[in-house]
Amino acid sequence: MDRKDTDRIDFEDFSFDAFDEARDPRPQATDFDRVVETAISRRGLLGVLAIGSGAAAMGVGVTGLGSLMSSTSAEAATARFGFKPVGIATDATVHVPEGYSWQILARWGDKLFSDAGGFDHTTGGDAATADRVFGENTDGMEFFVIGDRNVIAVNHEYVNPKLNLPKNEGGIPASAEDVAKLQKLQGVTVMEVAEGDDGWKIVVDSPLNRRINHLTPMTISGPAAGHDLLKTEADPSGTKSLGTYNNCGAGKTPWGTYLTCEENFNGYFGSTDETVSLPEDFKRYGIKTGSVYSYEKFDPRFDLAKNVNEPYRAGYIVEIDPADPSSTPVKRTALGRFKHENAEVVIAPDGRVVVYLGDDERGEFLYKFVSSASYVPGGDTSTLLDEGTLFVAKFNEDGSGEWMALTPETTGMSAPEIAIRTRLAASKVGATTMDRPEWVAANPIAAEAYCALTNNKNRGVKPNAGGDATPVGGPNPREKNNYGQIVRWYPEGQDHAAPGFTWDLYVMAGNPTVHDGAYAGSDNINEGNLFNSPDGMAFDTTGLLWIQTDGSDSNEGDYAGMGNNQMLVGDPVSGRIERFLTAPIGSEVTGLCWSADLRTMFVGIQHPDAPFPDGEGTLGRSSVIAVKRSDNAVIG
Ligand code: FEO
Ligand code: CA
Ligand code: CA
Repeated sequence: MDRKDTDRIDFEDFSFDAFDEARDPRPQATDFDRVVETAISRRGLLGVLAIGSGAAAMGVGVTGLGSLMSSTSAEAATARFGFKPVGIATDATVHVPEGYSWQILARWGDKLFSDAGGFDHTTGGDAATADRVFGENTDGMEFFVIGDRNVIAVNHEYVNPKLNLPKNEGGIPASAEDVAKLQKLQGVTVMEVAEGDDGWKIVVDSPLNRRINHLTPMTISGPAAGHDLLKTEADPSGTKSLGTYNNCGAGKTPWGTYLTCEENFNGYFGSTDETVSLPEDFKRYGIKTGSVYSYEKFDPRFDLAKNVNEPYRAGYIVEIDPADPSSTPVKRTALGRFKHENAEVVIAPDGRVVVYLGDDERGEFLYKFVSSASYVPGGDTSTLLDEGTLFVAKFNEDGSGEWMALTPETTGMSAPEIAIRTRLAASKVGATTMDRPEWVAANPIAAEAYCALTNNKNRGVKPNAGGDATPVGGPNPREKNNYGQIVRWYPEGQDHAAPGFTWDLYVMAGNPTVHDGAYAGSDNINEGNLFNSPDGMAFDTTGLLWIQTDGSDSNEGDYAGMGNNQMLVGDPVSGRIERFLTAPIGSEVTGLCWSADLRTMFVGIQHPDAPFPDGEGTLGRSSVIAVKRSDNAVIG
């Protein structure tokens, strides 16, 4: 959840995104023209909304938004949802609509292997078996069918040291063993799952079960591989690193691999010598001498005084083959280095691979990678994500937009530098600073993609860390944006690889019971579907957009009537949005995938600040739940 900077910094009630911002607030505005507050009326916003509708009517077959919805289309939309929306909740459990049920699939500390007997999450667990259990803080996930097995790959974004090192003051590691325990509980779980008479369960000891963590060997590929900045004493080749960090969103390729996305990697590195001088570009990424977990005191790899290049080996998209537990994950540097949210893969009409990528920080950018070669089913996919062009989005006020290529010609930087210092490259071409791009989702039945811009209290107030202004306007139309919005774009020629697009806002979250004007939200927001801070998003096969939130659950003031974080469903055509699920207090909802038969939806519940799911007197445990219809019909 998002808290104000003045709140104490403590993982127990903090999402890692909010923590990173509190630890590393952006500088005050100094060298840009402060944007004068623009009063945007709801009518004015609808003008913005209508632009994309017009573009859609011309070529994409999308007919309009909530405000324009006729009674006939409203009835059609109701029929599409197939459930009675749930009200808000403020309690400590999960609620789903009548006719649906949920059960627990996996909780922090659950065994993946039977030899994890020594791990007890209530006492902090055992370092030796911390990589034999389901890790903490579940996030992005994907479902795979491998032979006759069902497999879920799922991220563990961060760890709460106070819970995992309960004997240590403030959860601060006091030994190399403590550090190793935290390192092993984060990263990725690959686990076989199976549905029996009593629901879905982890298949303990499956040969496909695997934990990938901060110590797992990785290969570095793409333009940055072997560059001097990636070389360390332990790896003079600059092509082999250990570990993947702060794994937030996810992605899945058509060739059956899992993409895990390194987000707030900066917080893992620190220095035992506070006087050490750090490279200038570390500032843009928030890499400082102080770290979140103090790894550097016991693991020199994370000590900037000894290994200043190690952070250049983090901040990438990592490709994992869930079918081969002995495979080495690959860091795909062609997809850029920043605080990656998710990786939404689309195949362009000519077979090129397009990967949409958000950089979740206030005032950072939205990217896409387009491969040079085309995907051929059954063909060699080993270098598809290594060779291609990275683009960054520029949104124009008139509803048009362009993807600007990041090349040596456009940036004056070499290809490896673009891959490593991607934020600096994007600033050079004048990309649009965004309100924290979280997940991108592409509609499987229409040529359009959506990005959750979760919120940005600095919009119109502060530049980003590179000094780029954050003017109010375009897809970021509200100063001090505390509710968030979802922008969508329609690629030129219905081709996601194309350089041009038109855009509109699918929804602006807001609170019409508290505000008039822009902060009331767009017209598809009403008393029955109030939410803030859209974050996770995924389309189902029918073209409905599932929206997960990671925002304030105070349920008061600006957030009155919103309750706990939640998951909603949006109809792209009508604009209608309804609430499907509410989460326990203190948690965010993040991670969504479906079983192969679409009869089960797996949903992640991260950092509950409540005794969920084990009940009164127990610790809150991040968990994956399985949601089904009582009649076992398809959902999605
Ligand atoms: Fe880890 Fe931006 O969410
Ligand atoms: Ca997120
Ligand atoms: Ca978030």
